[in-house]
Amino acid sequence: PRHLLTLQDLGRERILTLLDRAAGLRAQFRAGALPPLLAGRTVVNLFFEPSTRTRTSFELAARRLGALVVNFDIASSSTSKGETLEDTLATLEAMDADAFVVRHKENGTPARLAAHARRAAVLNAGDGNHAHPTQGLLDLLTIRDRKGRVDGLTVTICGDVRHSRVARSDVHGLAALGAGEIRLCGPAALLPAADEFQHCRVFEDFDAAVEGADVIVMLRLQKERMERLAFDEDTYFARYGLDAKRLTRARPDAVVMHPGPMNRGVEIASEVADGAQSAVLEQVANGVFARMAVLEALLRR
Ligand code: CP
Repeated sequence: PRHLLTLQDLGRERILTLLDRAAGLRAQFRAGALPPLLAGRTVVNLFFEPSTRTRTSFELAARRLGALVVNFDIASSSTSKGETLEDTLATLEAMDADAFVVRHKENGTPARLAAHARRAAVLNAGDGNHAHPTQGLLDLLTIRDRKGRVDGLTVTICGDVRHSRVARSDVHGLAALGAGEIRLCGPAALLPAADEFQHCRVFEDFDAAVEGADVIVMLRLQKERMERLAFDEDTYFARYGLDAKRLTRARPDAVVMHPGPMNRGVEIASEVADGAQSAVLEQVANGVFARMAVLEALLRR
C-alpha cells in the first residue's frame, strides 16, 4: 500500500517484515553504517495536535535516512485564514513533497488526505481515538526485544482505553502476531463499547487484570478528550494506578510499557516508570527505527 493509516488488516507478514527491518536499521545506525536511503525525498510533518515523541522521531528517522524534513507550522500557516486541509496538502504536494506525516484530533483525517493525495504517501501519526500505527509497531518491537516473541503472551492494556488510539493499534498488532490473551482494563466510563474488541477480555478490576501478565501497557488519562473527570486522581490511582506492589501480581519478568506522555502518580508510580521492568525509554528509542522502516517501505525508490 502507498499509505500507512492503520495496522488493522496490514497482516502478520507485513508487520513482521517492518519489525525485522526496524531492527536491521537500528543495528546499522548503531554501527555508524546507516546509508542515506531516502536522499532526495521530502517529508512534511503536519501535526494539528501536540506531540513530543512522534513528531521528533519521525523527523530524526527521515533526516538520518537522508530525507529533507519540513515541520509545517500550522499556527502561522494559511490554514488560519480558512484554507482547507485538502488545499494545504495539494499546495505542499505541488512543491514535490513525497510524504505527509499527519496527526489530527478527528478520526479519519489521514485517510481523507490520503484519498486526496495525487502521488504522496500519507502516514498516520495518530487520529482521534482511531489509530496510531507506528506506535503499535514500536510497541511490538519493544515487546519482541524484551520477551523474544509476541506469540502466546498475555498482554494487559490498562487505563483510558476508550479515548486511546494507542490501545487500538496495539490490539490490532498484538492480534496479528498471535498474542495469547489481550486484556483491556479500566473503569466502565473509560472502556470501549462491548462489541468493539470481541477477541479481548475486559476487566474493571485491575488486580485481576495484572495477574500473570507478561506485558502491561499503561495508558494516559486523556483529560483533554473528556468533558469532565468522573473521579479524582487519587481515587483513580488507588484503583487503576500501577505501583510496585500491584506489579508483583504480574509475572516476575513482566515488562511495563507506557506510550507517553505519562501522568506520574495518576496512572503509573515513578518507582515503576523508572524501575528495572520499565521499557518506556526503549519504546521511545524504538520509535525512531520503526518510523525509519515505514518511511523506507513507502518512499524508497
Ligand atoms: N506516544 C506518543 O504519541 O507521544 P507524543 O504525543 O508525544 O507524540
